[in-house]
Amino acid sequence: MCGIVGYVGPNKAVPFIMEGLAKLEYRGYDSAGVAVLENGSIEIRKTEGRLKKLADILEHETLGATTGIGHTRWATHGRPSNRNAHPHSDCTGNFALVHNGIIENFTSIKEGLLERGHKFTSETDTEVVVHLIEEFYKGDLVRAVQDTVAEVRGSYALVVVSCLHPDMIVCARKDSPLVIGLGEGENYVASDIPAVLRHTRRTYVLEDGEMAVLRSGGVDVMTTTGRPVSKNVFNVTWDPVQAERGGYPHFMLTEIHEQPRAIRDTLRGRISEDRTRVVLDEVHLTRDELAGLRGLAITACGTAYHAGMVTKYLIERLARIPVEIDVASEFRYKDPLVGPDWPLVVISQSGETADTLASLREGKRRGAHVIGITNVVGSSVAREASDVVYTWAGPEIAVASTKAYVTQLVVGSLLAIWIAQAKGTISQDLAHELISELNELPEKAQRVLEMEDEVKAVAKFVAEWDDAFFIGRGLDFMLCLEGQLKLKEISYIHAEGYPAGELKHGTLALITEGVPVIALATQLDLLDKTISNITEVKARGGHVTGVTMENGRELEKHLDHILCLPRTHQYLAPVLAVIPLQLLSYYAAIERGADVDKPRNLAKSVTVE
Ligand code: F6R
Repeated sequence: MCGIVGYVGPNKAVPFIMEGLAKLEYRGYDSAGVAVLENGSIEIRKTEGRLKKLADILEHETLGATTGIGHTRWATHGRPSNRNAHPHSDCTGNFALVHNGIIENFTSIKEGLLERGHKFTSETDTEVVVHLIEEFYKGDLVRAVQDTVAEVRGSYALVVVSCLHPDMIVCARKDSPLVIGLGEGENYVASDIPAVLRHTRRTYVLEDGEMAVLRSGGVDVMTTTGRPVSKNVFNVTWDPVQAERGGYPHFMLTEIHEQPRAIRDTLRGRISEDRTRVVLDEVHLTRDELAGLRGLAITACGTAYHAGMVTKYLIERLARIPVEIDVASEFRYKDPLVGPDWPLVVISQSGETADTLASLREGKRRGAHVIGITNVVGSSVAREASDVVYTWAGPEIAVASTKAYVTQLVVGSLLAIWIAQAKGTISQDLAHELISELNELPEKAQRVLEMEDEVKAVAKFVAEWDDAFFIGRGLDFMLCLEGQLKLKEISYIHAEGYPAGELKHGTLALITEGVPVIALATQLDLLDKTISNITEVKARGGHVTGVTMENGRELEKHLDHILCLPRTHQYLAPVLAVIPLQLLSYYAAIERGADVDKPRNLAKSVTVE
């Protein structure tokens, strides 16, 4: 995720761009830059670091340009640095471009461009796009952009300026947002509405496969194949604060709703084109090394640890090797079982958690190959691990982790299938089924989000209690742990996550009349067992909300409430089933008047032991 802003009109572009970028810093903040058309050439200023650093540079400049573009970055390809910051330019310096998204086939495009003599100045995937525009340009910038997007695979919001066309901006979108702001004698483009809201409420929202040409006098919209499109103006009615969170009142809710996109981005490029294999080129373990694995260890903290538990379960089920898992604050002190033939997987959204980092270092000291799963390019985990598999959730602003967790589950599932395919412990049929179900998760996650009102009703009930229970078996139990953590950390309702069969060995006495129990029942091979445990709870008066899949409806008669998810393979069900749990916590916290985005005593990045 990155933030993009563009301006064309009679006024100075830089102040507009900087003001717009400030509203988009939630989309990325590891580097920033602008490109403006100044006296017949393109001037680019960019720097690693937050927007303030760019503002300090620009303060000493007198750029009077009235056309320009800007970018605030969240690194994907290439760590945060001055060179990798956008905008990027071609060999001639005639074109400059900002990009949000991932160009999947950039390696092959880059090889061709290098052979044809192009010089690259960054490690980004983006830079290939501007060199392609340079190659395709024959006097018509719009055509050059159309020809370029026909070559690239992946997701993009692209915004281009050229000193050969000083009064215009060309932009195109696929799978990354772009809105056009319609002003009086000036027009704007941005990744999100807040960037333009102080200047206009009249917008066009570009759809996938559409592009736009902005001039001060007007905006033309067309498809990327050149067919004119007539757009309806979208009049924004949100208040400015709400607009900064994509129309949602809190970042946590915005981020819950971003999950279909985050899942899609995390899958991108990691499944072979014929959809038969998982491709994890980032992990440099050979087939022989994988075949010889005796075991694996996983370590992480909090929510990331819960994603690790799901990953452990899947690796053991699919790849048939033992997986040790510990919270990082324990792992580092337990003389852990890692070494040259026992790799370590560390999972960390921020990549800076002190206990996780210490565990990573302990693993390396013992000669283990360390696979880091993190959401932050250039973070300590990314720099120090032997290999990094990124989760492409984009910056997570709310303290409670949601979209990062879901993308960790996706990477965990990919890793499990990848190891199992290398070891030959998974049948082709099962691998194909899981891969095809993985591809459907973004759309199914979107459908789960449509259950928001149903979940809200459950949350209203739960919010009246001081205790809640989450029960489930197999992967559902691992999800219970995440469900109870989320509820506790943002609503301050005490909650316990239990293996459903374990209640009777201890705390069944705490289930009294009306106590809310969330029963997860997505593991259909265990449905009968879970139903027996639900019956035990019901017999003590517990108020049970069941979360199951469409094909688990037989559960309904045992429940007070049912939340039915779209059907998927039960190994992938956690990715969908966590969404109602996140919404439940969110709405319970709202009911109780808690500050969801900044829960008490919880920091986004825990850099102390
Ligand atoms: C919970 C939460 C924390 C983090 C934990 C690890 O919502 O966010 O439990 O998951 O502090 O943080 P990272 O993943 O950054 O290492």
